[in-house]
Amino acid sequence: MDLSVIVPTFNEGPNVAELVRRTSDALTGRAVEVIFVDDSTDDTPDVIRAVAASADIPVRLIHRDNPVGGLGGAVVEGIRAAESNRCVVMDGDLQHPPEVIADLLARAEEGDADVVVASRYIAGGTSDGLANAVRTAVSRASTLLTKAMFPKKLHNCSDPMTGFFLVHRDSLEVETLRPRGFKILLEILARKQMRVAEVPFSFAPRFAGESKASFSQGMRFLTQLTMLRFGRMSAFALVGGLGAVANLLIMGGLQLLGVQYLVAAVIASIITIVANFLALEYLVFADMREESGLMRHRFIKSFTFNGIEAIVRIPVIWVLVSQAHMPSVIAAALTLIAAFVVRFVFHALVVYAP
Ligand code: GDD
Ligand code: MN
Repeated sequence: MDLSVIVPTFNEGPNVAELVRRTSDALTGRAVEVIFVDDSTDDTPDVIRAVAASADIPVRLIHRDNPVGGLGGAVVEGIRAAESNRCVVMDGDLQHPPEVIADLLARAEEGDADVVVASRYIAGGTSDGLANAVRTAVSRASTLLTKAMFPKKLHNCSDPMTGFFLVHRDSLEVETLRPRGFKILLEILARKQMRVAEVPFSFAPRFAGESKASFSQGMRFLTQLTMLRFGRMSAFALVGGLGAVANLLIMGGLQLLGVQYLVAAVIASIITIVANFLALEYLVFADMREESGLMRHRFIKSFTFNGIEAIVRIPVIWVLVSQAHMPSVIAAALTLIAAFVVRFVFHALVVYAP
């Protein structure tokens, strides 16, 4: 097998036949297989089976009933299952023209790269297929931010957010990849210094169906970026910090509406506690939920911890001020820092324990 083409799909039925046809036409004379890693909730698996039966290249289907890690998780699963060490990752909606696979392969055969990226942002490439100006701006801005955060590792990559690339599986440590959300190439490039080469391509409009990009994918991306760069602890801190600001804003807003300040504080705290917990669930510890039991048990643990922490901090401040003669602001700040570290450790090791 010269090449395995891995295609993550979520409800892409109408695109499957066209994708297989064009892939096979573009790679005549090569031993190539297509692996669909499918999380669909519609009849896409049936469509794939039907296309596989009459295709002139091997077409495999991995349907996941338990789609861990979304798009990124699907790609990792495909890479694991690939027959060939050379893996191309490509979207299932034909925004990535299968004809470009031949360019990726030719560039890979020069032998000096671990990853060959199909880029929208080098000469000869375009991003016209991004549906509107907002998405184009978001894509550009997040590319810049990402490159700024990994100046060395992404130095040779103009399009770390693309989902179209070729990777030599040998050059990866597949077990270390923590796929969250959409940006699997970023995950691959940020983990380890890779030798990157690029070929241009024109990002096409979708062939059929709808995009699965969303605001929540955007939030996942920001969390992924923070975690890759600064570790889980910073993502945790960021969520906590934003929560504290939100708490104050809500409290102030309620008071403006005439709510008494203690009542406002209680309401603001309840909202923040719940929002904070949800952010931990779906962003910071999203990859650990699967194995750590029931969400409601985690909530109880997290909630209890926050309550105990609030109560314990007060006497500790008192001890630091009256016994250790520390200024009260410093004492309060110290307890906050200590509480933050303990809270992180508690969540990582107890609340989200496997
Ligand atoms: N298996 C699986 N599971 N596949 C998924 C999932 C999922 O949860 N979510 C989306 N996909 C598949 C889609 O079916 C499609 O084949 C591909 O992943 C990309 O999804 P789109 O919905 O077409 O997203 P997009 O066009 O907004 O995003 C593309 O452009 C980005 C760059 O702007 C993707 O190529 C991204 O990878 C790329 O970063
Ligand atoms: Mn798409």
